[in-house]
Amino acid sequence: MTEIRFAAPALPKDGALVLPMAEGTAPAGLAAQVDRALSGRLKAALKAARFAGKKGQTATLLAPGAGLSRVIAVGLGKAAELTEDGIEAAGGTAMAALLAGADLAGAIAADLPQGAPKGIDAAAFAARLALGARLRSYRFDRYRTTEKPEDKPALKAATLLGPDPARAKAAYAPLGRIADGVFITRDLVSEPPNVLNPAVMAERCRALGKLGVKVEVMGPRELRRLGFNTLLAVAQGSANEARVVVMRWNGAPRRGRGKGKGGAAPVAFVGKGVTFDTGGISIKPAAGMEDMKWDMAGAGAVVGLMAALAGRKAKVDAVGIVGLVENMPSGTAQRPGDVVKSYSGQTIEVLNTDAEGRLVLADCLWYCQERFKPRFMVDLATLTGAIIISLGHENAGLFASDDTLAAQIIAAGKATGEECWRMPLGDAYDKQLKSDIADMKNIGGRPGGSITAAQFLQRFVNKVPWAHLDIAGVAWQGKDKPAVPKGATAFGVRLLDRLVAEHYESR
Ligand code: BES
Ligand code: MN
Ligand code: ZN
Repeated sequence: MTEIRFAAPALPKDGALVLPMAEGTAPAGLAAQVDRALSGRLKAALKAARFAGKKGQTATLLAPGAGLSRVIAVGLGKAAELTEDGIEAAGGTAMAALLAGADLAGAIAADLPQGAPKGIDAAAFAARLALGARLRSYRFDRYRTTEKPEDKPALKAATLLGPDPARAKAAYAPLGRIADGVFITRDLVSEPPNVLNPAVMAERCRALGKLGVKVEVMGPRELRRLGFNTLLAVAQGSANEARVVVMRWNGAPRRGRGKGKGGAAPVAFVGKGVTFDTGGISIKPAAGMEDMKWDMAGAGAVVGLMAALAGRKAKVDAVGIVGLVENMPSGTAQRPGDVVKSYSGQTIEVLNTDAEGRLVLADCLWYCQERFKPRFMVDLATLTGAIIISLGHENAGLFASDDTLAAQIIAAGKATGEECWRMPLGDAYDKQLKSDIADMKNIGGRPGGSITAAQFLQRFVNKVPWAHLDIAGVAWQGKDKPAVPKGATAFGVRLLDRLVAEHYESR
């Protein structure tokens, strides 16, 4: 991970320099200085490379002179169409280019292009570039012991060069805390399943205590006592015990007299944390089963989100609850046909032990609304393969009982590049869950598999505004994106941080 710094815009005497440039503009600011120092070779090279500043375009000059090792032009697209998300992408592309070379240090010019939208000032521009760069620098290399030095990234630090480094640094501070949260999630999701079992993940949650998050960990005895029976039914086939972790960040200004008084109801986030999903007795095929190590990505996102909110001291009261289990086949595993009484009191006929995420969430959702009476609940889960058939890897499936909350989530997704597509709910789908022997069964058949999964969850939500994000298609990606290296994406952290920042923080 590369350290991010800010400095005044002086032409570096050595190392690599990235020049983000808008479409159809002549080199200005640092870029103009570079062109002069190189006797016009920057302009000539960009012309030769047909670099026009288009979004995502890059052109690299190797050993161009003036002591510089590389000069890399990165396209921003049209200045008037700049968005935060687009600037972050340019920052990510800049970082990828810096990491591809041998430089120990690199610089990124943060000259706000002429004609940028009013809302984006020079400090915000530098800070967003920095965020994209930082996010792209993520690497999970804990388990590499024989990597050759020349295969490891050399870059230790990247410096944003802009007119007001102090203001840029201040604008970046909360964004850096969000990136920290993203990295916590990516670490959790990347860990192999023999390392990250429910108990270990719960310990990682405890570490949020140092940020001021209150963390409670419940084990099987307490969960049994409380009646988390459907969650425990999933866990009962595994030698690794279940955990439920409740994380609380109380950042809303306290009103009235007495400690802990005042504050509106908290916002609440609930995550599916299946640290490995074999399918249980309804076992999955061997091919690709290793992917099921990231069946805890919903819970991972909740942990990273709580870290981001606490890290940037968000003025909100937030609750994060994660249900942590391993779904294994064994002599103690639940069977297809078992009937289990959930924490809510409703009974469930488990017809497929591979539809386990909804069983975990059912108890966590009911517990969350009962104990915290939140303003809203959003759950995140790698819930169904069917959502990948519906939406591919480009959108999370959004299901919501509340149109306002849904609209807020969709907008936050657009702003952060974590996009969500709303899917329907309705009684006709709900009927697919009818059981011959219990209150419901845990599968609704092939048609609309993601929708019936969401209907199942909705049976464990009362009046509270609720949204469910099925992130099975977006939690992990096979190829690099500008600000997201391939692998664990931490989808949901930035989206939900934004949701909170835009609509649920005290001002
Ligand atoms: N964890 C899986 C869903 C999943 C599949 C996530 C692929 C990521 C990639 C979930 O527990 C599951 O197995 N769902 C079943 C439900 C079915 C049995 C009703 C599925 O989607 O096949
Ligand atoms: Mn499953
Ligand atoms: Zn699963």
